[in-house]
Amino acid sequence: MTLTRRAFTATAAAAIATPAFAAARPAPVIIGHRGASGERPEHTRSAYLLAIQEGADFIEPDLCLTKDGHMVVRHENEIGGTTNIAAHPEFAARKTAKTIDGERIEGWFTEDFTLAELKTLRARERLPQVRPASAAFDGTDLILTFEEVVEIARAETKRTGRTIGVYPEMKHPSYFAGVGLAFEGRMAAALKAAGLDAKDAPVFVQCFEVAPLKTIRTLTRAPLVQLMSLEGGPADNSAVSYAQMATADGLKAISAYADGVGPEWKMVVPVTDGALAAPTAFVSDAHAAGLKVHPWTVRAENIFLPAKLKRGADPAVHGDVDALYDALFKAGVDGLFSDFPGLGVQARTRFLKA
Ligand code: G3P
Ligand code: CA
Repeated sequence: MTLTRRAFTATAAAAIATPAFAAARPAPVIIGHRGASGERPEHTRSAYLLAIQEGADFIEPDLCLTKDGHMVVRHENEIGGTTNIAAHPEFAARKTAKTIDGERIEGWFTEDFTLAELKTLRARERLPQVRPASAAFDGTDLILTFEEVVEIARAETKRTGRTIGVYPEMKHPSYFAGVGLAFEGRMAAALKAAGLDAKDAPVFVQCFEVAPLKTIRTLTRAPLVQLMSLEGGPADNSAVSYAQMATADGLKAISAYADGVGPEWKMVVPVTDGALAAPTAFVSDAHAAGLKVHPWTVRAENIFLPAKLKRGADPAVHGDVDALYDALFKAGVDGLFSDFPGLGVQARTRFLKA
C-alpha cells in the first residue's frame, strides 16, 4: 500500500484554505485527536472514519511498538485501560508492572505481545463515565497498525476528494529503544513506503522527546513537530524544561530540527481565575522562528474546560467549548487537536466568516 504524491497533491492546509483567507494565512487545520475520540473509542477505525466524516483534515495515531516490531496505534504501551485484554485468560500471566518514563505502571504492555496476539483484542472507551455513548461501541474495533491508519487516510482521500493527512506520534521512544525497539528507523521506513517522505506531504511526525526528532530529521524529509506541555520537560533530557523550550530562544532552537510545535493549549491561551486570558507570546515567537503551532487538546466536556466555560455541574455535559476554539483561532494557531473534530470544523467556519 502506497500513498503516492499524486494521491496527495497538496498539503492539507492548502487544500482547505479559502481564497479570501489564504492570502493572509492558510486556514487552521483540524486534527482528529485519536480520531473523533469524544464519540468513539480512541484510535479505532470507527473513530478515524467519524473524524473524517466530520471534516477533520488530519487523523492522529499515537504509536507504540509490539514484541515483533510493529507500530500499533495506542496512546500508551499499557493496554489494560483501552482494550478487553483483562477478559483474555490466555494473557493473564503476562500482567506485570514496569516503570515507564519514571512512572510505575501495572498491566499488559504492547512490547510483550506480537501483532497477531494484539489483533485478538477489541478496543474499549477510556472514559466510560464521561463518554457513555462512545462506550456503547466497546468491543467493535480491532487494534490498528500505523500502516492501516495510513491506508484509511489514503482510501478516504480518494473517496472524498479531500486531502486527509496523518499525524503520528512516537510514544516513549527512549523507553522502547531501551528494550531493543527503536522507533526512528521504523517510522522513517513506513513514511517512505507510504509515499510520505516529503517536505510537503500531508503528514506531521510528533514527539514529546527531543533526540528522537533530531534522529528522524536525518532519516526523513517529512514535517516534524515538537510536543510540549505546560509543566515538566522531555523524558529524554532532564536538564531542560518545556517552559525553557517555549521561550523565543527555545523555539528558535527547535526550528533547527522541527517544522512545528504542539503545545498544551494553555501555553497559548492561559487560564486565569477560571477564565480564558489574553494569549501569550507563544504563537508570535513560534511564527518568528518559522514554526507552525498546533495546540492540543480541545475537549468539549465540562470536566476538561476552565471553570467559567462549564455549563452546570455534570462533568460529562458539554461546556462552552466554542469560546476555547475561538480564542485559539484568534491567537493565530495554524491548527489544533480536538476530540470533537466536527465542533472544531464548525468553529473554524464561524471564525473564517467573522
Ligand atoms: O499529540 C498531541 C496530544 O495528543 C498530546 O497528548 O497525551 O493526548 O498524546 P496525548
Ligand atoms: Ca498524541
